[in-house]
Amino acid sequence: MKKVTFIFSLAGVLLYCASQAAYSSDPEKVGASTCMGCHSDQVEAFKKNTHAKTLPAVKKISFEESCETCHGPGSLHAEAAGDKTNPGFASIKNPKKLSVSESSETCLKCHENGNRAFWKGSQHESRDVSCLNCHSMHHSKTDPLMVKNNEAETCYQCHQIRKAQSLRSSHMPLRDGKMQCSSCHNPHGSAGPKLLAQNSTNENCYACHAEKRGPFLWEHAPVRENCLNCHEAHGSQHDKLLKVKRPRLCQQCHIESRHPTTAGADPDAFEAGLTNIGGSRACTQCHAQIHGSNHPAGARLQR
Ligand code: HEC
Ligand code: HEC
Ligand code: HEC
Ligand code: HEC
Ligand code: HEC
Ligand code: HEC
Ligand code: HEC
Ligand code: HEC
Ligand code: HEC
Ligand code: HEC
Repeated sequence: MKKVTFIFSLAGVLLYCASQAAYSSDPEKVGASTCMGCHSDQVEAFKKNTHAKTLPAVKKISFEESCETCHGPGSLHAEAAGDKTNPGFASIKNPKKLSVSESSETCLKCHENGNRAFWKGSQHESRDVSCLNCHSMHHSKTDPLMVKNNEAETCYQCHQIRKAQSLRSSHMPLRDGKMQCSSCHNPHGSAGPKLLAQNSTNENCYACHAEKRGPFLWEHAPVRENCLNCHEAHGSQHDKLLKVKRPRLCQQCHIESRHPTTAGADPDAFEAGLTNIGGSRACTQCHAQIHGSNHPAGARLQR
């Protein structure tokens, strides 16, 4: 009789231990009100955040359930009561301290759609840039949950040359807030080159400069090929975002022609009686339709 009781109680102890072991490796959800006790700052900040406002409606996740959606179940962490030597403490997940791919997975559970369709394999993803290099869930400075005061500053953290270019005399109107990097790029990945939102550079430019698309009766080959043969997309020291000052811009390709394209050359060969074509805008003063002409007599892009 005594022996049987002993065996039963031994089994009981073992069962108890097993359940405890399962318990300690398996934290449970406790809800935002528990977190609130120690993290009122995060909770208050989070209440103003898009996620707090939209998770209930879009994902049917109540405010009470929200913290643990990203941080994982927090019972053991809460029980550790702030004691970092207690193994339970570290059972809470901080996406910022996870590996880049695990961290991004936390977000992609809900966001692997829309603009993120090309995230996997994108230039950023494959170079270990994480969602949290650009977005912050509790310390964002501007919408949409950006880590810096505006989008461009967020990008300049790593792309400093672009910042330098934005300060040049001729620049895309980013400084003026009329445009964003994301007006042209999808930082989450794209099917086009260089993270462009369109499939090619020219398609990108046509999106806003539709009149340059043509069709033209007389085309200028380098324009059709790539706008960036002559322009710098982000900013330049030369007017009109030109890569090189005129007339040297044109002379890169037009050395020989039926009129001299170099200042001081013999003008006799040229019917128009051109004696000085050295002026900084000279070529385009006559060849004004540099992007293409629809005039029957515009073969030389003059009209
Ligand atoms: C009994 C107090 C207490 C409770 C309850 C509590 N935490 Fe914490 N938590 C802490 C302390 C203390 C820290 C360490 C803070 C520090 O280092 O500044 C911390 C740190 C964290 C961290 C950062 C961990 C890291 O490694 O960077 C996260 C994330 C976190 N808590 C989330 C939560 C969530 C979510 C809840 C609710 C499920 C919660 N906490 C409940 C006390 C608590
Ligand atoms: C959408 C995902 C998400 C939700 C929901 C969320 N967090 Fe966080 N939390 C993060 C991320 C990511 C970080 C890393 C820092 C950052 O991005 O701001 C973080 C960091 C923390 C930290 C570490 C200290 C800090 O400020 O960096 C604490 C504490 C924390 N969260 C508590 C909470 C609490 C409490 C809730 C619920 C009210 C909550 N979090 C809801 C994603 C989330
Ligand atoms: C449980 C699902 C869920 C998770 C996990 C989640 N989000 Fe969201 N997120 C949403 C919903 C819902 C919205 C509201 C917009 C929408 O309808 O898509 C949103 C909006 C956003 C926005 C737009 C904010 C704005 O101001 O418009 C950003 C940026 C964002 N999330 C980033 C993240 C990042 C980064 C993570 C990972 C740390 C993350 N989210 C995790 C569901 C989630
Ligand atoms: C290189 C910076 C950068 C990275 C990395 C990044 N984002 Fe964004 N994200 C932005 C910018 C800029 C915007 C606003 C412009 C836009 O909508 O494209 C944005 C907008 C968003 C939005 C709101 C608009 C929309 O597209 O629905 C969500 C949601 C979002 N990001 C989620 C994520 C998630 C999830 C990750 C990680 C997988 C991530 N982002 C990585 C810069 C970034
Ligand atoms: C944490 C650093 C970081 C941030 C922040 C960042 N990038 Fe990047 N970006 C990179 C790295 C790394 C590469 C890959 C560079 C390479 O391969 O030479 C890259 C590449 C690119 C490319 C070129 C892709 C190609 O094919 O060469 C573009 C365009 C780009 N980023 C735009 C942005 C924009 C827009 C933002 C802001 C919304 C941004 N980046 C923010 C690190 C960053
Ligand atoms: C008006 C459209 C436009 C805007 C706005 C724009 N870009 Fe670009 N960007 C381009 C084009 C077009 C290219 C492709 C250049 C090429 O093919 O060499 C490019 C290329 C890049 C590259 C890759 C450069 C390389 O040498 O491989 C990076 C990085 C980049 N952009 C970052 C940014 C950042 C950061 C911003 C915001 C500050 C920004 N861009 C704003 C159009 C734009
Ligand atoms: C998202 C819209 C948008 C895209 C895409 C775009 N641009 Fe622009 N572009 C503008 C705006 C806005 C201005 C300023 C117009 C103004 O101030 O009158 C501008 C101005 C210019 C200028 C004149 C600059 C000056 O100093 O007068 C040039 C040249 C130019 N863009 C070329 C390009 C090229 C090349 C591309 C493709 C790489 C491109 N743009 C893509 C919107 C765009
Ligand atoms: C062969 C060189 C060259 C190529 C290639 C080129 N441009 Fe230009 N672009 C110029 C020159 C030169 C000017 C200045 C014209 C002037 O001052 O009258 C200019 C001016 C502009 C302007 C501002 C003035 C205006 O006409 O609206 C825009 C916008 C522009 N280009 C867009 C484009 C786009 C888009 C492409 C590609 C489809 C492109 N350019 C290709 C040489 C070029
Ligand atoms: C990247 C090289 C390149 C640049 C830069 C360039 N062009 Fe051209 N241009 C060409 C090519 C290629 C043709 C076509 C030649 C052909 O069909 O024989 C052409 C044709 C022309 C024509 C028509 C002539 C003809 O024979 O049909 C004129 C005029 C012209 N360019 C003027 C200019 C001017 C002015 C500039 C400077 C604003 C300039 N080009 C910049 C490459 C360039
Ligand atoms: C005063 C007006 C004027 C100026 C300035 C001018 N051109 Fe011309 N250009 C013309 C005329 C007119 C023709 C047509 C000649 C013909 O059809 O016989 C022409 C023809 C051309 C042609 C095509 C014929 C050939 O010679 O192969 C090219 C290329 C050309 N110009 C380039 C340039 C460049 C580059 C510059 C600047 C360095 C320039 N032009 C400056 C008026 C001018």
